[in-house]
Amino acid sequence: MSNIHSSSFPSLRLRRGRSNPWIRNLLTENKLTVNDLIWPIFICEGENKKEEISSMPNVYRYSIDRLDEISENANDLGINLVALFPYTPEEKKTEGGEESINSKNLICESLKKIKSQKNNFGVMCDIALDPYTSHGHDGLVNNEGEILNDETNSLLVKQALLFAEHGADVIAPSDMMDGRIGKIRNKLEEEKFYDTIILSYAAKYASKMYSPFRDAVGSSSNLKTDKKTYQMNIANSDEALREVAMDIKEGADIVMVKPGISYLDIISKIKSEFNFPTFAYQVSGEYSMIKAAADKGFIDEEEIVFEQLTSFKRAGADAILSYFAPDVARKLKSGN
Ligand code: PBG
Repeated sequence: MSNIHSSSFPSLRLRRGRSNPWIRNLLTENKLTVNDLIWPIFICEGENKKEEISSMPNVYRYSIDRLDEISENANDLGINLVALFPYTPEEKKTEGGEESINSKNLICESLKKIKSQKNNFGVMCDIALDPYTSHGHDGLVNNEGEILNDETNSLLVKQALLFAEHGADVIAPSDMMDGRIGKIRNKLEEEKFYDTIILSYAAKYASKMYSPFRDAVGSSSNLKTDKKTYQMNIANSDEALREVAMDIKEGADIVMVKPGISYLDIISKIKSEFNFPTFAYQVSGEYSMIKAAADKGFIDEEEIVFEQLTSFKRAGADAILSYFAPDVARKLKSGN
């Protein structure tokens, strides 16, 4: 190591390695492929619906009968995993989030549909209460407005089992309660769901970057307080390593960092500390910022998206959830 780095200018000219496309190609260290992409999908009730989300141009909520369109695209583009998120109608939201464990809820019905098809991709389902609660929090809330950890866990375990029973391949707790990975893993083992993967949103920060997502699942107007008592302090990184250590110990197969681009340091630290499968989520706010700036002609959308997704790879992410997934996959498939 020390030897190669001891040579200096003019014997060392790093620009030699950048002087032509062919040498740049040969020296490329990280390459984005379709195998790095996970596609998040929003689902709504009704028939023949494909409604655009106003804060996320070109991202839609699909009714279940229109999910064929998603499956066809995912199969055709070679996307390995889609992540389902429900837009629960207001009248089905309650304080206790009971709709989350209704076997006829949007996620269960979507799983029935997708799993009756012959697909080449897996299906991931979020575990959390926020799309189902009238207050928009990920957990149960008491009269003092506190989020109840252990009571929430009992419900999350039921939700996880229900989705596993309906064929979810990847269970992704995004709620940030303590101890939920262990409880979910135990239940899945007990019920013989040996192959159900747990992808833990392990280092999930209390970020302002989730606002468009909250519009997409219809929780933004209900949410009156922040999520800082359960999602992580944006200023911390040691704590992220402790969150990840805890979830690995409890039985997570994959851990995730969220949001993405401003948290690449966290991805890098987790990867070097644990050498464990680590995913990243390029969240809704990141998507909308790129879209808005591109729409104004301030930036080149396609190039910026490639730059950012490649940066996730460079930081050490094994795969990335991105609303740009189908666009990028299409581009990669076309080969230019
Ligand atoms: C719900 C959940 C959120 C996201 C994924 N799962 C929102 C939140 O925690 O408030 C955000 C995804 C995005 O912004 O794209 N627990």
